[in-house]
Amino acid sequence: MMPPTWSVRRLHTLEDGQIDELASVLIDCVEGGASVSFMHPLTRDRAVAFWRRLAQGVVAGERALLVAEDARGLCGTVQLVFDLPENQPHRADLSKMLVHRRARRQGLGAALMRAAETTARECGKTLLVLDAVTGGDAERLYARLGWVRVGVIPGYALLPRGGLCSTTVYYRNLSEATLP
Ligand SMILES: CC(C)(COP(=O)(O)OP(=O)(O)OC[C@H]1O[C@@H](n2cnc3c(N)ncnc32)[C@H](O)[C@@H]1OP(=O)(O)O)[C@@H](O)C(=O)NCCC(=O)NCCS
Repeated sequence: MMPPTWSVRRLHTLEDGQIDELASVLIDCVEGGASVSFMHPLTRDRAVAFWRRLAQGVVAGERALLVAEDARGLCGTVQLVFDLPENQPHRADLSKMLVHRRARRQGLGAALMRAAETTARECGKTLLVLDAVTGGDAERLYARLGWVRVGVIPGYALLPRGGLCSTTVYYRNLSEATLP
């Protein structure tokens, strides 16, 4: 088996160059049709503004940001959101799992998920929750990694070029789970 061409790490601050590279990943995913909060076309200004806002939460410890880097720069990312109500200190939301199309289907999505679960454990979290477009590529990834499917919310969001899609909610109990 070929060794991976990328490495995964957690960032605690975001520099301008990293914000620009993450903006490119987000723009590429929206161009590719991913339903990740934005409509097509996503301008660079809006993508950069999104990551700048988010960087403040990363510095404040309200979220953990994991990134993957290949020879061309940052090519994937996922976040754990810790900024939740005070009665849910054991929990995090997993969000914005994005892999640039140049780096897909090589196991990077799975590597980012495993890194996110390890980070969540290190931060004392025992329950993770996420939602994913019903029938999309990400759903297969989460199911394969042992996430439990809760159910479908029909007509949840718009796809980037219009048309409603449903979302499927998943959870992962880290106190029971062993990494597959
Ligand atoms: C969903 C997403 C993160 C998956 O990322 P990825 O890096 O391609 O994920 P993986 O490589 O781990 O797995 C993807 C597929 O490649 C396959 N694969 C993994 N390693 C492989 C390899 N070395 N050779 C061939 N295939 C491989 C996996 O089996 C999987 O197959 P499947 O989709 O048929 O089940 C990516 O498609 C993405 O960013 N999509 C757009 C954004 C999005 O929808 N995010 C989810 C929001 S909830």
